[in-house]
Amino acid sequence: MAQDKSSLGRLGVVLAAAGSAVGLGNIWKFPYMTGENGGAAFLIIYLACVLFFGVPLMSTEFYVGRQGLKKWPWIRPMTAIFSLLFLSFYLIVTGWCLHYLFHSVVGTLAHLDSSALDSFFVDYVSGAVWLPILWVFVAILLTAIVEFAGVKSGIERVCKVMMPLLFVILIVLIIRGLTLPGSMDGVKFLFEPDFSKVSPKVILNAMGQCFFSLSIGAGALATYSGYMSREQNIVGTVEQVVGIDTIVAILAGVAIFPAVFALGINPSEGPQLVFVSLPSVFNGMAGGYIFQLLFFLLLTIAALSSTISLLETQLNFYVPRLGWKRSTAIIVCSLVVFVIASLAICSTLLFDVLDNLVSIYMLPMGGMIFSVYVGWICPKEDVICQLTPSSGRRSVALCLYGLIRYAIPPIILLIFLNALGVF
Ligand code: PHE
Repeated sequence: MAQDKSSLGRLGVVLAAAGSAVGLGNIWKFPYMTGENGGAAFLIIYLACVLFFGVPLMSTEFYVGRQGLKKWPWIRPMTAIFSLLFLSFYLIVTGWCLHYLFHSVVGTLAHLDSSALDSFFVDYVSGAVWLPILWVFVAILLTAIVEFAGVKSGIERVCKVMMPLLFVILIVLIIRGLTLPGSMDGVKFLFEPDFSKVSPKVILNAMGQCFFSLSIGAGALATYSGYMSREQNIVGTVEQVVGIDTIVAILAGVAIFPAVFALGINPSEGPQLVFVSLPSVFNGMAGGYIFQLLFFLLLTIAALSSTISLLETQLNFYVPRLGWKRSTAIIVCSLVVFVIASLAICSTLLFDVLDNLVSIYMLPMGGMIFSVYVGWICPKEDVICQLTPSSGRRSVALCLYGLIRYAIPPIILLIFLNALGVF
C-alpha cells in the first residue's frame, strides 16, 4: 500500500502505528470496559486476546501493507470505506474530548459538582447540535492540517512529539492518583482478578476491545506498514506497537481507578466514566485544575493521532488509485467525514447504527478478511519469511501462521453469528 517507500524511518513506522493504536480505545474505552466487566478478570482475558488475536492479526495487516494486494485488490476500497465510517464515529468522540479540553482550560469544569457535571455531559450530547458539530469541525481541521504537512513532516513529526508527551502526562496522573488516600482499592480492582465475574459477554467485550484498541481491520496499520523497508522485521515491529498500546491501556487504568476509588466513585459508570466521574474526581483533589487539564490534553492527543491514521488510510486509496492530488483528497475526504459525523450528531438513530457497525461488525470483519487473505491466498513461505526474516524466530512465525490460517477466521465467524443472535 506504499506511496513513497523512503518516507518513514524504522522508528517512524513504529511511532505512527502506535499513534494509530493508542487512542480513545486505551484512555476512554479500556477503563470503562474494565470497570463494567469486573476489573482484573477482564484485564487478563483482554491480554490473552491481545496475544492470540492482536499479534497475529496485526502481523497480517503489516504483511499486506508492505506486500501490496495483488490477488484481492478489493480490500483497498473496502478499507477506505471502513476507515471513512470509523472516522466519522471517532470524530464525534474526539469532539467530546476537545470540548472538555476547552472547558478544563477556561476552568468551567473545575466549578461543577457531580450533578452539574452530569448535566454538562447530557446537555452536550443531547442538547443543541451546533456545538458538537463545531467540535467535530475543529477535530477534522486539526487532522487535515497534519495531513497537509505530509507523512514525514506531518505524521511522523507529530507522533514523535505526541507519543512521549502522552507517557509523561500519564506518569504525572498516576503519581497523583496513587498518592491519594484510599487509592489502593483501585489498584486491587485492576490487578486482583475475580473470575466469578467472567461470562461469554465479558469475553466478547474483551475481544472487541482488542480489535478497537489495536486498530485492527480498518487498514490503518496496513497504510503505515507500506512505508516499511524490506529488512524490517514485521513480528518485531508488531511486538513493539502492541507493547506500547497495551502499556498505555494499563497505565490509563492505573491513572484512573486509584483516583476513582479514593474518591468513592462507582467504577462501572460506562462511557461517561472519564467525562462525568473523572472530572468530579479531579475537582475533589488538590491541584485538580491542572490534572484535569492534563488528562483531557492526553485524551485529545491520543484521539488525534488515531484520526490522522484513519484519514491517511483514505488518502492512501484515493491518491494512488484514483490519481487525485493529495490536497484534493484531504479536502474531499474531510468534507465527507464531516457531513456523515454531523448527520450522526443530528440523528440518534444514525449514531447508534454507526456505533454498532464500527464497534461490533466492521473491525472484526476487516480482521477476518485480512487473516483469510494472508492465511489462505498468499504463499505460505513468503508470509513466514516476511514475518520474521531472521531464521532464529521461525517457530514464532509458524505459530502465528497457524493461528492466522486455522484459528482466527472460524473464531471471528462465531463472534459474528453470536452478535447476529444466531446462538
Ligand atoms: N486504536 C484506536 C484507539 O484505540 C482506534 C482505531 C481503530 C484507529 C482502527 C484506527 C483504526 O482508539
